[in-house]
Amino acid sequence: MVSTPSAPSTHLDSRQYLPPTNFEGPLSPNQQLLPLTATATDHHHLSVGGCDVVNLVQQFGTPLYILDDHTLRTACRQYRQGFERYYPGEALVLYASKAWSCMAVCAIVTAEGLGIDVVSAGELLTATEAGALPENIYFHGNNKSFEELTLAVEVGCRIVVDNWLELKTLGEIATQAGKAVPILLRVTPGIECHTHEYIRTGHLDSKFGFDPDQIEAVFEFLAGQPQLHCLGVHAHIGSQIFELNPHTDLGAVMAQWVVTAQRYGLALTELDVGGGLGIRYTEGDDPPSIDTWVKTVCESVVAACEARGIALPRLLCEPGRSLIGPACVTAYRVGSQKEIPGLRTYASVDGGMSDNPRPITYQSVYRALVANRMAAPLTETVTLAGKHCESGDILIKDAALPELKSGDVVTIAATGAYNYSMASNYNRVPRPAAVLVAEGDATLIIRRETVTDLLRQDCLPETLRPKAKSI
Ligand SMILES: Cc1ncc(COP(=O)(O)O)c(C=O)c1O
Repeated sequence: MVSTPSAPSTHLDSRQYLPPTNFEGPLSPNQQLLPLTATATDHHHLSVGGCDVVNLVQQFGTPLYILDDHTLRTACRQYRQGFERYYPGEALVLYASKAWSCMAVCAIVTAEGLGIDVVSAGELLTATEAGALPENIYFHGNNKSFEELTLAVEVGCRIVVDNWLELKTLGEIATQAGKAVPILLRVTPGIECHTHEYIRTGHLDSKFGFDPDQIEAVFEFLAGQPQLHCLGVHAHIGSQIFELNPHTDLGAVMAQWVVTAQRYGLALTELDVGGGLGIRYTEGDDPPSIDTWVKTVCESVVAACEARGIALPRLLCEPGRSLIGPACVTAYRVGSQKEIPGLRTYASVDGGMSDNPRPITYQSVYRALVANRMAAPLTETVTLAGKHCESGDILIKDAALPELKSGDVVTIAATGAYNYSMASNYNRVPRPAAVLVAEGDATLIIRRETVTDLLRQDCLPETLRPKAKSI
């Protein structure tokens, strides 16, 4: 994603990023830079979920992921209510937990009536431990291990089968277990949308899913596998998508697969249209609202089914980023600064690519604000650097910020998706803590890792142990 930096200004301050207070009707969280509860206190501090961010970092340290309960729940409800409003059949919204898998997040989305999409044994067990019902868990992945498939059959979740090897292995596991296993098939739909453009092709260069050419052979195979109960089909066309047309096209493509399956005696009753709705990382990002996205998906599936004379399937979707992304901010402390006259000023924070690998991986652009001085004018252009031993460890290039002081609490917006879940221990930096904020209370949901946690995984062979020093 490319976005120009916001220009330095003597007029603007960080309060420009707060959600509007004079907006009529519900705000769609994915159209906001900051969580819906974000405000500036009388002391010009950033507050989220009724908690002063300066107090939070004093209590929990930095870097700190601050997750707003209200914003996450609002996004869940807007998805669910959208389906109730626009889809005359049954529907289920799944949370794509790859965006941020931890027990508290899984428990919140479960309490909000969502199912969960998982892609590993780790995500699966996180979902079950958090109380998700097996029939509301969908297990994805292009290379599930034998052990993961066996676990999925034991747990009783739905399995989204990705390829022939998996189909055959699962057939054997189901026979051994003596039970019918509910599956969906992942098929590449010939719609590609990873940028703000999309293309329609017959085949896609993707590691995921069956090629559409294979689908008849798969249906034929399944017709002879009564232990594999094929409920439906799944497709996912990409992430951080701002266009609606790809989803209009997708409804028709998927409904046609249902018609094809009928020729093989398979009555498919579920369509899972994947996730992908984009969010606002900068002022230049203008994604459709959750409501508009759901409306588009529903109308396209209803029209495609009517046109083919098929019954309305149970409709599923699996958003990740648009549910959790806008609900979180990450707070850091500013440390050293380096000014290169005529070139650039760097300000380093106490985290970086280990807690947010998206800028270095995808050149993603974020906005930052100074949580302890929300009213300070944005007079400077500063490059926010991480603390890692990598020149590319830059969180934001040329950010519009006030003049920074060591100890300032710089906070980056919209960090809920693919930050904690992609975090690493590069340079042996322990991963941050996360707190859930709601109505003025902050609750720890992920403990801060310590170097002792990291050392615990190391095994030092006897022969390599340091010799005791002789006195
Ligand atoms: C199969 C599948 N479903 C759902 C998602 C969630 O997508 P997003 O976070 O863009 O909503 C992804 C992420 O790329 C995915 O690969």
